[in-house]
Amino acid sequence: MRNLIDIVDFSVAELKELMDVACDIDMRPENYRERCKGKKLATLFFEPSTRTRLSFEAAMLELGGSVIGFSDASSCSASKGESVADTAKVISCYADIIAMRHPKEGAPYVAAKNASIPVINAGDGGHCHPTQTLADLLTIYRQKGKIEGITVGFCGDLKYGRTVHSLISALSRYNNINIVLISPDELKIPDYIKEDVIDKNAMTYTETKSLEDAMPSLDVLYMTRIQRERFDDANEYERLKGSYILTPEKLQNAKAELSILHPLPRVNEISVAVDQDERACYFKQVLNGKLMRMALILKLLSETDIEEKREADVVKNKIRCSNPRCIVSVEQELEHIFKPVDKANGIYRCVYCESQSIEKENN
Ligand code: CP
Repeated sequence: MRNLIDIVDFSVAELKELMDVACDIDMRPENYRERCKGKKLATLFFEPSTRTRLSFEAAMLELGGSVIGFSDASSCSASKGESVADTAKVISCYADIIAMRHPKEGAPYVAAKNASIPVINAGDGGHCHPTQTLADLLTIYRQKGKIEGITVGFCGDLKYGRTVHSLISALSRYNNINIVLISPDELKIPDYIKEDVIDKNAMTYTETKSLEDAMPSLDVLYMTRIQRERFDDANEYERLKGSYILTPEKLQNAKAELSILHPLPRVNEISVAVDQDERACYFKQVLNGKLMRMALILKLLSETDIEEKREADVVKNKIRCSNPRCIVSVEQELEHIFKPVDKANGIYRCVYCESQSIEKENN
């Protein structure tokens, strides 16, 4: 069974294949109108969404399939205490494929381990959002004609911005990508992305607090919302929420061929006046998201007999994950599973949320 839990579950060649199919769907939609006839998509959304849920539903309907699901945790049996694992087993009896969004990091991973149908991560807490990355990659590819050899600036909430984490992971596998990380100190990229993705893949990067300083070098500017719902301290959110606001004036020293992306929703970080600028690509990105989700549904439904790689070399229940946003913090029955980062020094990473733990500290 193939799933999409993390963007690195797919190779660069597979991402290209998805982009090619998405472009073909855009050009020849009539060829795809019955491709999922008789198939059902279940959208299990434990957190709010406009784009991801509705684009998945539109995608399945345009492929001739049908859709079941819920858009609110309070309207499903999770509100009575049902686990993610049981939910996944139950939905496997009703549908052919699941798209799941959950506030706890690693919840779609748990669903995938327990479902007998493909599971797609539609966003898990502040961890990752691989299908947004599919939309982002297609947008970059269509705007630039390539993904290699570009400078991408990520601006805003790089700590909780799951779309940023997934896009950096994806870009780390393309050649000659330069990234510029633009954020206040409080919202810098998590260490595990820096160590396991940026450093490990020898990506060139710079960090700055100044969008104005970064602007002239950028081919792509990826603006993000400050993620209010992930803050433990409301005062800190209030202090940081206006950190970056993109206006036409700030674009004066940008390249003429800059592409401005944003996963949306925006709050105030891109002024509506920027929408008129031909470099604004965020509404094209929305359409690209639906096309890529169509391609993804087709791919996963055609690969249900492929055996997915199992976690090798993991440590179970010797270390405990202390991340309060991890799914293990609320589902006590789950095993605490870690993969080694540096065995000699006892450094491990949780398989659900990727938080780092040090074995010696835990034992
Ligand atoms: N980009 C994105 O995930 O939007 P939604 O929260 O509306 O799904």
